[in-house]
Amino acid sequence: MMKKRILTGDRPTLDSFHLGNYVGSLKNRVKLQDEYETFIFIADLHSLTTHFDKTADLEKNIRGLMLGYLSVGLDPKKVTFFLQSKIPEIVEIAYYLSVLTSRSVIARQPALKEKLDSGAQDTVGLFYYPILMAADILTPKANLVPVGKDQKSHVEFSRDIAIKFNNLYGEVFPIPEPLIGDVPTLIGTDGKAKMSKSLNNAIYLSDSADVVEKKVMGMYTDPTRIRATDPGHIENNPVFIYLDAFGSTSSPQVEQEVNDLKKRYTVGQVGDIEVKKYLVQILNNFLDPIRKKRAEYEKNPELVEQILKEGTEKARKEAQKTLDEVKRAMKLDYFTSDSE
Ligand code: TRP
Repeated sequence: MMKKRILTGDRPTLDSFHLGNYVGSLKNRVKLQDEYETFIFIADLHSLTTHFDKTADLEKNIRGLMLGYLSVGLDPKKVTFFLQSKIPEIVEIAYYLSVLTSRSVIARQPALKEKLDSGAQDTVGLFYYPILMAADILTPKANLVPVGKDQKSHVEFSRDIAIKFNNLYGEVFPIPEPLIGDVPTLIGTDGKAKMSKSLNNAIYLSDSADVVEKKVMGMYTDPTRIRATDPGHIENNPVFIYLDAFGSTSSPQVEQEVNDLKKRYTVGQVGDIEVKKYLVQILNNFLDPIRKKRAEYEKNPELVEQILKEGTEKARKEAQKTLDEVKRAMKLDYFTSDSE
């Protein structure tokens, strides 16, 4: 049986993933790559919708994201990596989808509203981005799209537009489905709800052991606790949340040590410093193999480029096939010498 196809991607607005990206999506992708035919793309055209004044960073960010994918164990033998802007067929397909789309439907997109609320400029490009995202998904004929809850409405829009297209012109697109894991949003080092680059509360997969130590020792813990002998709180305490996310599942021994620390913390028998020192060790153990892999690929930028290039060539072939089908279905294949 043919494997189902997965598509997912990231905007190159940062040059390294952080721990929140890891638990929120990278970890899941590593798991999915064995079961599905996986396409992962770098959405550089999307990043222009909010970062059109930061184009000078794009190349560095694209390289950084590629290093991130490869260092966490996404395998180029299993995954097709591609760069959005190198596949003009996506933009062309987006145009054909746009003529089927009501303005009011886009205006109601919650994810678009969020971007506007958080200060993005109200450009035509930003307004168009749900359509471009539908084209990202439909062009490689993805069956499943692993996304966070906040992006679910985009996938639903992509479904609607695929159904509309197929009804009007004939079956071209498989109807994609969102794949929403029960992945939690990782709290920031400052105790704020979300780890993010813009909040400056992130630990990056590329951070050195020293940087991790500095960040952890400065972490927010339980604000109600003044002395180590005060009973402490585990809930919403980022130090313990990270211990669970990166320690407890790694070995039964660590799990037991974490449970022991939790008990002592709750009754006021361990200080923050001891818990944090333990967390530094756990995080560095988790990050060491990732750092090692990153360093290997960093020494060989041509290889990384080659992986992206080969993936893009493969994805482009698929895109050209889909575009041909779209144009044939729409009866736009006039005056082409190779049309049948
Ligand atoms: N919108 C996603 C983000 O903001 C990136 C993205 C663009 C994407 N197109 C996609 C994700 C298609 C999954 C499928 O991070």
